[in-house]
Amino acid sequence: MFDQLEIAPPDPILGLEEAFKRDPNPAKINLAAGVYRDESGNTPVFRTVKRAEADILEAEISKTYLGMLGSPEYTAAVQALVFGAGHPILAEKRTTTLQAPGGTGALRVAADFVRKARSDATVWVSNPTWPNHPSLFRAAGLAVQSYPYFDAANNCVDFDAMMSGLEGVVQGDLVLLHGSCHNPTGADLTPAQWQSVAALLERKGAVPLVDFAYQGFGRGLEEDAQGVHTLVERLPEALIATSYSKNFGLYNERTGALTIVSRSPAVADAVASQVKLIVRANYSNPPAHGARIVTTILQSPELTTEWQTELAAVRNRIRELRRLFVQGLHGRGVTRDFSCIEEQNGMFSYTGLTKDQVARLRTEHSIYMVDSGRINVAGLTTKNLPVVCEAIASVL
Ligand code: LMR
Repeated sequence: MFDQLEIAPPDPILGLEEAFKRDPNPAKINLAAGVYRDESGNTPVFRTVKRAEADILEAEISKTYLGMLGSPEYTAAVQALVFGAGHPILAEKRTTTLQAPGGTGALRVAADFVRKARSDATVWVSNPTWPNHPSLFRAAGLAVQSYPYFDAANNCVDFDAMMSGLEGVVQGDLVLLHGSCHNPTGADLTPAQWQSVAALLERKGAVPLVDFAYQGFGRGLEEDAQGVHTLVERLPEALIATSYSKNFGLYNERTGALTIVSRSPAVADAVASQVKLIVRANYSNPPAHGARIVTTILQSPELTTEWQTELAAVRNRIRELRRLFVQGLHGRGVTRDFSCIEEQNGMFSYTGLTKDQVARLRTEHSIYMVDSGRINVAGLTTKNLPVVCEAIASVL
């Protein structure tokens, strides 16, 4: 049965993590997957997460199953984080949130749900986008198309091209948008552009699917949610996949959620019943620990304030690394203008390096970045930054 199988190509991001582990060079530098590293190159556990875990360990009396949609306390905390406590949409009771195994798990439940609700829907993804997006939607049996997003020459969103591309969307299609910190470009929509996109989706009768994996990594928790707010305030339906891998540092706890906004409470009831079937036939019910951590922190005003301070420190450090990176390249005589890197949001920057240059960095310098030229700025440290700048200057 298995004899016919060929070796599959490595995953464009996680395959690099594997290659990095295999590389025997002690000076290797990993700027591939979106994982935050501190000045010593470690991915620390947030102090607030440690405190919450201590409380959980003390209070936990059972490890019985959660329901198919997960813990109601967690999903309420997620809704308050995404929409802001007291947002009118929460009182309207047309919002279903389910606890999911990571942001990817949430996207996959969303994909299976859309396939069930509207099997002929096309999912429109930005070009470029996270490489797992098209794979994931195709694996669920959905058609995928792309819309232009990035103006590589000027290092900014090509908004006119994006809007013309989205003219191809038809009623019932899904448009995938990155809530903040666009992956891979770091270039986000302005509030006015979110309004225009919302108006276009309304005119087309299309549904937004927001991948919201970096809340708090761009300008701030509330600021980063503005795009999502614009969409739900204008459109009757939306899907929002959230992840707590980055902003709580819960990568391996697989902690995420899917929020589905429906037209009415009655439709929301039908939605909840259908997603339960999807979850049951897939992983039955979600893992508990990461969600308990998020809930414990968000239910405690003291832990919430401390977590926000930790998150702000991460955000500010990445901003500073962006500044040092641009300065470092400039200082090594690189004439290409990289100043846009300072304006981008979140963990990633699009360097504009070609696939060949990226390959040379990997083979000649053991510096790992995604073939598209995306680097994880949060993988830089003051120690490895001069080495990275020197190597980039040498391949340019
Ligand atoms: C990334 O884009 O590097 C992260 O979201 C990690 C992943 O799963 O690809």
